[in-house]
Amino acid sequence: MSVVRSQVAGVGAYLPSRVVPNAELAQKLDTSDEWIRERTGIRERRIAADGELTSDLAIAASQEALRAAGLLPSAIDLIVLATATPDETFPATATTVQARLGITRGAAFDIQAVCSGFVYALATADNFIKAGQAKNVLVIGAETFSRILDWNDRTTAVLFGDGAGALVLTAGKGEGTTKDRGVFSTHLFSDGRHHDLLYVDGGPSKTMTTGHLRMEGREVFRHAVANMADAIDLALKTNGLSASDIDWFVPHQANQRILDATARKVGVHPSRVISTVAQHANTSAASVPLALVAAVADGRIKREQLVLLEAMGGGFTWGSALIRW
Ligand code: UT7
Repeated sequence: MSVVRSQVAGVGAYLPSRVVPNAELAQKLDTSDEWIRERTGIRERRIAADGELTSDLAIAASQEALRAAGLLPSAIDLIVLATATPDETFPATATTVQARLGITRGAAFDIQAVCSGFVYALATADNFIKAGQAKNVLVIGAETFSRILDWNDRTTAVLFGDGAGALVLTAGKGEGTTKDRGVFSTHLFSDGRHHDLLYVDGGPSKTMTTGHLRMEGREVFRHAVANMADAIDLALKTNGLSASDIDWFVPHQANQRILDATARKVGVHPSRVISTVAQHANTSAASVPLALVAAVADGRIKREQLVLLEAMGGGFTWGSALIRW
């Protein structure tokens, strides 16, 4: 049986040049490098320069992904950009990316699922491709979370960073088995009852301000491990695979202890979990593609390997995606 598969044609990443180590934050906040490393695994994060916008980060990552895919921007017929920190309330940052890449056809829109945003964007792109409504899709996760942090709140300010990752998905053909290359399944979930555990205390309709991130970290931690493990189990079950069949797990990078606890729960050795949390901190929707790009660049993720992405974020939202690279 011949089926349409959304196949990865290229990936790209961009990180702002300014590196902020834990020690720099400890000069302004009642915290320490030791506390941050022990409780989260984070050593440093990148912070965007004044005037450097989410769209700037997204464009740089997209240009690298297009180069890697060997495609001109004009080949792109859909841009799906996941972000919780758009340049402006409207229009969608995706349309700025579209214009600045010189693309004048197709559609471009943003997706808001906070830290699960990239998995949501990938699922959306995959469904457009499978429905025959797009052929070459730019899937982007880009954030300037530094702009919505309360820099006086040590419980959140130390956890996040800025960055962007992008992936070009292209329509290809497969046999309908897990030997094909491409996306096999995506599973998305949300449960809005948990709004108060992770949210931004502002917005155009509620306060007419942008607001700052607020989080009950301990509660989010507990849900993150349970939800990501469930999303992994479902991806495996749906595809008739077990954890040992997966070459690489690429989780949302919030906290090394969440990565470790989730891996333990699903029975995965930590050596098969990609972790960039030490260098990037939590970059929300950018974290999964940034981790993917790092592992592709250093040769760990190779063509034909099975890669399982999973994420969890504000909303709550969570999900997984299984891809043969
Ligand atoms: O992207 C998805 C969303 N985010 C996440 O998934 C994050 C999930 N949560 C976490 O990663 C962790 O819960 C945190 C890293 C946020 C916190 O770690 P924890 O081990 O759960 O610590 P805690 O919140 O239980 O706090 C322990 C202590 C508290 O002091 P007391 O009450 O025991 O005296 C905090 O006030 O650590 C204190 N604390 C800090 N101390 C130094 C909290 N933040 C800091 C800090 N520096 N930056």
